[in-house]
Amino acid sequence: MQYRTLSDGTTSFEVSTLCLGAMNFGTRTDPATSRAILDRFVEAGGTFIDTANNYSVWSGGTGRDSEDLLGAWLRERRGRDSVRIATKVGAAQKDQMKPLSTTPPTNYEGLSAEVIRRQAPESARHLGVSHIDVLYGHVDDRDVDIAETVGAFGALQQEGLIGISGISNVATWRVVEAREEARRQGIAPYGAVQQQHSYLQPAPRFGRNNFVTPGLLDYAASTGTPERPLLAVTVYSPLHQGAIARTDKPLWGGVDHPTSHARRALLHEVAADIGATANQVALAWLLGGDVPVIPVIGASSVAQLDEALGAADLVLDPEIRARLDAEPGEAR
Ligand SMILES: NC(=O)c1ccc[n+]([C@@H]2O[C@H](COP(=O)([O-])OP(=O)(O)OC[C@H]3O[C@@H](n4cnc5c(N)ncnc54)[C@H](OP(=O)(O)O)[C@@H]3O)[C@@H](O)[C@H]2O)c1
Repeated sequence: MQYRTLSDGTTSFEVSTLCLGAMNFGTRTDPATSRAILDRFVEAGGTFIDTANNYSVWSGGTGRDSEDLLGAWLRERRGRDSVRIATKVGAAQKDQMKPLSTTPPTNYEGLSAEVIRRQAPESARHLGVSHIDVLYGHVDDRDVDIAETVGAFGALQQEGLIGISGISNVATWRVVEAREEARRQGIAPYGAVQQQHSYLQPAPRFGRNNFVTPGLLDYAASTGTPERPLLAVTVYSPLHQGAIARTDKPLWGGVDHPTSHARRALLHEVAADIGATANQVALAWLLGGDVPVIPVIGASSVAQLDEALGAADLVLDPEIRARLDAEPGEAR
């Protein structure tokens, strides 16, 4: 396992470069299997776990199932000090009687100071912790003044409830604007941004702001100076929810186009050539990129996790990376 530093210029700590996503724990993944996956992750050196305050309400849960399961597991294993926990606020149901949706009307609570102040301690309570290492705004909220959102995260930091703040599902210019606003308020800026990203890239579309863009990676690469504190990029659905491994699974979310199909086939070709699996090549590509990102992996069994863990120390040779990075139609 490899490690890297998360920092917002004020608070810094190490995390494993593979982060374990706990979205389905306690709902789609039963509690015993979830605990076995968590145990195996920690045994393999994993130290970074990702959840949210709405997981997994769309799988028939309450929305707190993942945080509750993590809280119980931390208590049982007395493991609080060996892991860093990230959770998210802002995308729980505003109206409990209505479903959540990713398209308007979304029914998200949003990122007002009132929501952040109310929900962060609730997450800590469900997780059974006194301190949340990383707290993300789950989905950007353009209806709230950015100064209010940023100020609310800053206040929680100053009170010691959270370590590093972050934002997810957001346009890059909004990340930059929020970090500038933090500087104006004299508080630590977002130190992490979480977006969807894998070797399979979406077709560009105006308003599609949930994916990593080259511009975000370029901005992240420019951080890590006193004037511009570090910004880590954590990436969800790096295995495209099983559709990289399983070619019978549909490519969703704007990714179903010929280039992605060709790239998925190439992952399998490369994997066969180097004696790895397509998932491992996809993760190694993310971990070893010009701007390395932190994949937030999902696993529904210990075997799936073990496969992903096999990528933690897999370094792709330059000629393999060149083959993977070739433009469509270029010789490979
Ligand atoms: N910020 C956000 O808005 C956001 C959104 C989504 C997720 N997340 C975070 O990211 C984490 C990971 O998300 P994700 O689950 O979408 O990530 P993922 O790593 O792309 O997908 C994981 C899923 O892929 C399938 N899979 C893995 N290995 C496989 C194999 N060898 N063969 C076939 N299927 C395989 C499994 O699904 P099955 O076995 O169940 O088919 C597994 O649960 C979540 O837990 C959550 O923490 C954040």
